[in-house]
Amino acid sequence: MTAPARFTSRRVRAMPGSVFAAMDAAKSDARRSGLDVIDLSIGASDLQPPAVALDTLRAAVHDPATHAYCLHSGTAPLREAVADWFERRFALRVDPETQVLPLIGAQEGFAHLLLACADPGDAVLLPDPAYPSYFGAVAAAGLETVALPLRAERGFLPDLGLVDVADAARARALVLSYPNNPTAGVATPAFFDEALRFAERHDLLLIHDFPYVDLVDDVADAPSVLTRPGALERAVEIYSASKSFHMGGFRLGWAIGQADALAALARLKGAVDFNQYLGIQRAVAAALREPDEARRADAATFTERREVLVESMAAISWHAPMPRASMYVWAALPAGRRDSVAFAEGLARTTGVALAPGVAFGPSGEGYVRFALVRGPEALRQAVARIRAYLD
Ligand SMILES: Cc1ncc(COP(=O)(O)O)c(C=O)c1O
Repeated sequence: MTAPARFTSRRVRAMPGSVFAAMDAAKSDARRSGLDVIDLSIGASDLQPPAVALDTLRAAVHDPATHAYCLHSGTAPLREAVADWFERRFALRVDPETQVLPLIGAQEGFAHLLLACADPGDAVLLPDPAYPSYFGAVAAAGLETVALPLRAERGFLPDLGLVDVADAARARALVLSYPNNPTAGVATPAFFDEALRFAERHDLLLIHDFPYVDLVDDVADAPSVLTRPGALERAVEIYSASKSFHMGGFRLGWAIGQADALAALARLKGAVDFNQYLGIQRAVAAALREPDEARRADAATFTERREVLVESMAAISWHAPMPRASMYVWAALPAGRRDSVAFAEGLARTTGVALAPGVAFGPSGEGYVRFALVRGPEALRQAVARIRAYLD
């Protein structure tokens, strides 16, 4: 849809369109022609939220104390549950008053953090490919993007040595996200140390979007940048109940890290929202206090799915690397195909299998498609069988 010319700010006009609209049309066409759609195009977890979260929310709805506004920086019990969970997971204590801030989802937090910490005309160093809402958030904040290409041969870690010195000098923030969407790449503590030194040198806020912290085979593949030396003075990490607890529709996330950045974000949010509903804050606090075994079991579900998918693809000679984390498989297009939108649209229309075209995540995503592992093994095998027929 083209934005109407009237009553539309320059910042909104600068926001990029989405190729997901083309995928929606292709999925509708497939349904109209009687195909049942296997939708692997969107990373919305199909697993259930923890029972304790749902039970806590059910009880909270009937407690009038939860019906009021939540004025400041979320509730203390949620901030404490976040700090306790972080300490359990990463052996580092953060201050729940100054170094933790509840969000209405990671996406909200990211967009407002840019508004809170950078000024129009500043640049931001942004991975390419990346989670698409980053592009809109950058445009809405009036910032300029300096793209950091992510390449398979570097494990989808950016080469910070290639950043132009003038670009680094006008930048205010460096954005990273590992385990990565869409590439499923993972970061090492050594890479985070390098990124922190780079951020230090150029006086950047390091924003680490970290919603896939729990979706790893081995927790060593999801290090927190905040545990690295000096990071609490330089970095903010953003977490999400959407991925850790399969609560995408409940809208809750949290930021941990640099206190001034979080104070700026809290101040900005004070003008925009009154935080998430208190009952949902209670529900997520209860989930955060559960033993981590449940998270490991959910992670194992995604491990099994990625093995099923990657092995079924290999059996039809479409070879994608086996990811160690996230809920995605990032695959170079089959031989002879170069246009990810044409491929994904054609596949969805003809077979009902919907994938995300790589270019939806940025120019460096062209030539790839992303499978979201949001259906069980049977559906994944079925999807590959249909792809085989399509490619034949
Ligand atoms: C990298 C990344 N950040 C943020 C989000 C959105 O998270 P939330 O639902 O908490 O806004 C997603 C969702 O897929 C994501 O992949």
